[in-house]
Amino acid sequence: MSFDEATDFARELFVQTVAEPYRTKVVEHLRLPSRAERAKILQEAHYSPVYLSAGDVYIDFATDSGGAAMSSDQWAALMRGDESYFCSKNFPPLQAAIREIMGLQHVVPTHQGRAAENIVMDLFVKPGDVVLSNTHFDTTKAHVETRGASAVDLMSDSLWDFREAHPFKGNFDLSKLQAALARHHDRVRMIVITVLNNFAASSPVSLANIRAVRSIADEYQVPVFIDACRIAENAFFIKEREEGYANKSISEIVREILSFGRACWMSAKKDAIVNIGGFLATNDDDLAMRFRERAVLYEGFYTYGGLARRDLEAMAIGLREGVDESYLRHRTGLVRYLGEQMEAAGVVVSKPIGGSGVFADIGSIYPHLESERNPGIALFCDLYLEGGIRAAGVPFPVRTVSPRDGSFVDKLFNFTRFAVPRRVYSKSHMDYAVGMLARVKDNAPAQKGYRLVSAPEVLGHFFAKFVPYG
Ligand code: F0G
Repeated sequence: MSFDEATDFARELFVQTVAEPYRTKVVEHLRLPSRAERAKILQEAHYSPVYLSAGDVYIDFATDSGGAAMSSDQWAALMRGDESYFCSKNFPPLQAAIREIMGLQHVVPTHQGRAAENIVMDLFVKPGDVVLSNTHFDTTKAHVETRGASAVDLMSDSLWDFREAHPFKGNFDLSKLQAALARHHDRVRMIVITVLNNFAASSPVSLANIRAVRSIADEYQVPVFIDACRIAENAFFIKEREEGYANKSISEIVREILSFGRACWMSAKKDAIVNIGGFLATNDDDLAMRFRERAVLYEGFYTYGGLARRDLEAMAIGLREGVDESYLRHRTGLVRYLGEQMEAAGVVVSKPIGGSGVFADIGSIYPHLESERNPGIALFCDLYLEGGIRAAGVPFPVRTVSPRDGSFVDKLFNFTRFAVPRRVYSKSHMDYAVGMLARVKDNAPAQKGYRLVSAPEVLGHFFAKFVPYG
């Protein structure tokens, strides 16, 4: 869909009504178990979102990763799969899409984003090192920390204030970056710019900030890497909010962002709208060779990277669909609609509302629950019990620095993310979820919280089990 003029009434109505730029071709039936069943299911799932069977969930807000609805073109492309081990026919179309949209010549597919992170961290990070980011995703952080290094997040303190509406809340706090480099520069192995900044309320990073980060990194000769999994959404926000970008295409903005990195990795399960896949990409010939060597070791031959070859074809098409402006306008519009309705229901959400989903301040629902009583789990349980909805509340520990002297400061960001999978749910699903959230909020004062009974040290929330306080 394209609109010729900014004054086109069709465009206005499209934006206002959040009408889909696609129609449904295949449906998946959903189940809403009875309330008695939901209570039993919750108990059997140890009151944790990770053990809840997806077949028992009516609306799943757990993640926007991998659950997208592929287009008819993508499904058709799967039939073109050439499952040859070496140099499959499906690799060149992926390479062509990445060259064209991202401006990067060398591409090494991986089975998903964290596999690409593993390759990068394996090449660069040693015990005692420091990696700086606007915010590490939890697997990125785990890849750094399991190698004996420190992952440090340099987001602005405004993150902790849900109501503060900075248009680019995902930015690096540049004074923290300066302080961290001044103090730890001999240990800093790389700077990772995460676009958009998922765990910082899914907020975008501005190009002015990316440019400034790169110039500070150059002063200290530290390489910059870009975690690009939601780069199209980030570019859309830049186009909407940053001066000088209103007339650029999404791909032009994407290429400009990537021009500041030595290489990028991408979980294609987000903005490339596929169910599985990822890749590394760079214009650096030597680094590309090192990526390929590691890919053969960990993933498979470097033209398929642990994927079925047909998935490369779907990824190539998804990358192109993911930078389409009507799609991005609808997607961000739907997430914003959800957030605005949640706000109208009295829930505090991070402002402005971000890309991958809505980040809710759990404290605005359960002000009486201390963090030991796991209010995020309480919200998950209440929403599932009342309405068959899964939304994950994660206490996210952050290691940041003091802008004064670069010393480490540990903080906790408590939120529930209502992540919206791409092209899956309608506006009515959002209305249902908000209606249920309003009911949960009304009954929240009676909630006593949940006690953590077990969780391992690394990525504990993927394994945690809980019991309700009596
Ligand atoms: N980087 C970011 C910013 C992510 O959000 C994710 C995944 C990854 C890397 C890892 O990619 O899952 O393909 O291995 N995020 C998902 C989420 C899981 O729910 O936000 P992956």
